[in-house]
This record gives sequence, C-alpha cells and structure tokens, in this order.
Amino acid sequence: MRIAPSILAADLADLTSALTVCSEGGADYVHLDVMDGHFVPNLTFGAPVIQAIAEHTDIPLDIHLMVSNPEALLDEYLAAQPAMVSVHWEASVHLDRLLARIRDAGSQAGAVLNPATPVEVLADILPSLDFVLLMSVNPGFAGQPFLPYVLEKSRRLAAMIRDRGLDVAIELDGGVGRGNMAAVAAGGVEIAVAGSAVYGAVDPAAAIGELRRIAQEEMA
Ligand code: DX5
Ligand code: ZN
Repeated sequence: MRIAPSILAADLADLTSALTVCSEGGADYVHLDVMDGHFVPNLTFGAPVIQAIAEHTDIPLDIHLMVSNPEALLDEYLAAQPAMVSVHWEASVHLDRLLARIRDAGSQAGAVLNPATPVEVLADILPSLDFVLLMSVNPGFAGQPFLPYVLEKSRRLAAMIRDRGLDVAIELDGGVGRGNMAAVAAGGVEIAVAGSAVYGAVDPAAAIGELRRIAQEEMA
C-alpha cells in the first residue's frame, strides 16, 4: 500500500512542518487538494503554492483537482512536474483530451469519481488511465466519515481492471484511517490518501508507517 498524506488536514500556516511529516514518515506521495469554491464548497490553494511545495520537497506530488473547467489552469499545475494529476469525471467535458495533456507532460493521469458516480462510466477510457481515484467522502473537506459502499465500487473496478489485463492503480480518498485500512486494502486499493488519520495523530510521521503496516498485514 502506498500512502499519500493530504496536507489539507495539516496546519496550512506551517506547510514546511507538513512536508517534514511526509519525509520523516516515509510517505509515498504528498496529496494536494485543489478546490475552487465552485466545483466543491471550499477553497484551498492553487498552482503558486504547489510550485513552492515542489521546491521544498523531493517526495512525488499527487495533485487532486476539485475544480470546474480543469482544462483552464491545467498547464500551471503540470509546470510543477507532479508525479500524478487527477481530474474529476464530473467536471470534465473532454476527459480524453485532458488525460492526454497530463500524460504528454510526463505525469500519471487519473480520473476521480465522486461517491455517487458508478465506476462503469470509466469502462471505455480505462486503458488511457494510469490510476482511478475513488472518493470515499463527498469532496470538499477533510475529516468526514468514510462511506463504506465505496468499497463495493473498488471491488468492481478492480475486477474490471483485472479482467481486461490493464495496469491501472486504484487510489481511495476520504475518511481512511486505522479502523478501515484493512478493508480498504482488501478492496483492491493500492494508494490510500490519509488526511486526518495522519495530521490528527499524536505522532503524524509514525501514523504513515502504521497505516501501511495495517494494509500489509491484511494482504500478507
Ligand atoms: C476531500 C479531500 C481529501 C481529504 C482527506 O475533499 O479530497 O483528500 O483531505 O482527508 P481525510 O483523510 O481527513 O478524509
Ligand atoms: Zn483529495
């Protein structure tokens, strides 16, 4: 299991410490939640902040765009050379073109699905995806309760990927923590985003390894 701490749940006035938690804890990615106050009812940070973060860390960046009209500012996010960029299926009119732009820039391209969106909408685009990000909360805020029905979606998506012999990773985002990490791993998830479970922990850096350990024990 790869772990991607979401700095949305950290002290946003102290991003340096948030990044130190990721490096000391051995995080696989830093998950960056871009919100525009339109596609989701919250506003976070944009390309200038992400560029600054990129200059302060060697950990690969995982940009989750929760914005309307993602095509408009995509190039500014790609300029930070993130490892992964995902755009919401619900926000993309021309998803195929967006994914091509992400891959052409050298980043891995992902589609995000809100909890209520069935995984079957991705059936035809699946071969063009490096990963699928399944939301297990309604996007907009850290610290919300996990929606368990998303695990059934993950199992169906894992079967679609396996049956077609594709190489597409499943990432899960929202409400993931110690209590459900075993079930998340068993559901075919390979990348877990964790906000509150990391930054709300007594020892945030240790929490990263603890989440990974729970997943690995489940899959052993
Ligand atoms: C929610 C964001 C998540 C969030 C996760 O819209 O996409 O990445 O920060 O935080 P937790 O793990 O606390 O649900
Ligand atoms: Zn996210």
